[in-house]
Amino acid sequence: MLQQHISLLSYNTFGLPAQARWFARIDSLATLRAGLADARVQGLRRLILGGGSNVVLTGDFDGLVLHMASRGVELVGEAGDAVWVRAQAGEAWHGFVLHTLQQGWFGLENLSLIPGTVGAAPIQNIGAYGVELESVFDSLEALDTQTDGIVTLDHAACQFGYRDSVFKRERAGRYVILNVTFKLSRVAQAQTHYRDVTQELATLGIEQATPHDVSRAVISIRKRKLPDPAIVGNAGSFFKNPIVSKAALDKLLQAFPSAPHYSQSQANDGSAKLAAAWLIDQCGWKGQRLGAAGVHPNQALVLINAGGATGAEVLTLAQKIAQDVEQRFGVILEREPVVV
Ligand code: EPU
Repeated sequence: MLQQHISLLSYNTFGLPAQARWFARIDSLATLRAGLADARVQGLRRLILGGGSNVVLTGDFDGLVLHMASRGVELVGEAGDAVWVRAQAGEAWHGFVLHTLQQGWFGLENLSLIPGTVGAAPIQNIGAYGVELESVFDSLEALDTQTDGIVTLDHAACQFGYRDSVFKRERAGRYVILNVTFKLSRVAQAQTHYRDVTQELATLGIEQATPHDVSRAVISIRKRKLPDPAIVGNAGSFFKNPIVSKAALDKLLQAFPSAPHYSQSQANDGSAKLAAAWLIDQCGWKGQRLGAAGVHPNQALVLINAGGATGAEVLTLAQKIAQDVEQRFGVILEREPVVV
């Protein structure tokens, strides 16, 4: 079942060169358990890879790469207008979103065209255009690598935050997500309040948007602003939007009154989220290159592989950008993708 010396070039959307010493395609619980047992017996490090759309590979991986490839979507519950839909970890996210829309199960439309797999989605609590995964998440099943048993984790257990969850913190590396259950609705409730979405729908002349309209609008915004990883290597937003205290926000706005900021109303302490893209753009990085790594010309938050870049080049560029932003604005940028 294990393959040796497999190139990971086509398994990471950044298109960074790296080889896996060992590699296994995981399409069932049995193959996962067998792969983990092999890794244990041989004392190998392991790396779980979904769509590879949120990783920066910095070199060859001398352990075992487990590529999650389990498929399947099923309706597992209904009550009134609510439907519970379970998708296996290896399902491609966007295909799953389109499938739910076709079935008339609404709620995922704002998350159209996000790269990656279903199993990776809860790890960083994916979000876009006014909807975060956690708002439609019901539960997930995972293999606990410490006990080899299967656990069900509900919303509270996942401890979701902004692009964050327990799987990135206390429980990093412990669980392998097998499937995710979403609570969706048969009743359309289009979320159109995000500025780009409102504008796109207005441009299209749509007043009463359906979830299908929202999906189409989000797809066209994303196609315009974000590079297609099949053409230009990237991992989506490279930095998180920084959250700053009220004092830091006030200071920033005194010097830069036009800095975009979004109040964190749920925190209720005056803290605000800043637009990392704006900070980077202001430092003049948009469209720039450093070696074979670069900053996307249409979205300053997205670092790209301009052709033949290495993980080290991407990280050097990221470091320079973060230094400039800190020097100019006194704001620390935190990386979003996982560095391996
Ligand atoms: N802006 C600039 N220059 C740019 C791009 C944007 O100044 O080059 C400013 C604009 O003022 C804009 C603001 O930044 O109003 C925010 O930009 P945008 O609405 O495009 O979104 P973002 O904050 O840059 C976040 C997510 C994206 C998600 C979009 C849409 C993060 C780290 N990124 O980007 O998620 O698609 O909102 O909801 O939260 C991802 O996580 O990989 C990702 C692509």
